[in-house]
Amino acid sequence: AIERTISMIKPDAVAKNVIGEIYARFEKVGLKIVAAKMLHLTKEQAEGFYAVHAERPFYADLVKFMTSGPVMVQVLEGENAIAANRDTMGATNPAEAAAGTIRADFAESIDANAVHGSDSPEAAKTEIAFFFEEGEICPRG
Ligand code: CMP
Repeated sequence: AIERTISMIKPDAVAKNVIGEIYARFEKVGLKIVAAKMLHLTKEQAEGFYAVHAERPFYADLVKFMTSGPVMVQVLEGENAIAANRDTMGATNPAEAAAGTIRADFAESIDANAVHGSDSPEAAKTEIAFFFEEGEICPRG
């Protein structure tokens, strides 16, 4: 089925100036960018976005990292977009990411891991609504 998902290019990859290279990976697998914005997350935004991880030991460091510089957030649309995006990203820990994935090629560590992607339809819905109004999304058919 055609799905939508959130992709976020994290501060490490924005700083490396590889937004375009990462967009090319999405386009190569048929994922279409139907909305996008660059923003520098506030502490409150980063805490809210990652609220599901609030009890995890890495939460404070995650919030600190995600507010360290601008991020690029996009809605991707396509066939099985949630899984397709996750396959394109590779494993959360770049040391375990398959060759040719975004994290294998651009990530430095489990913290500075270049990209985030929604991990379920429920997360995709919540995360899209966190960043975008319905009217900011441009279906491309
Ligand atoms: P992301 O997909 O954005 O979701 C939460 C982030 O927390 C994850 O990518 C990692 O960058 C970061 N993180 C740090 N330590 C861990 C860990 N032990 N397990 C999962 N995620 C972690």
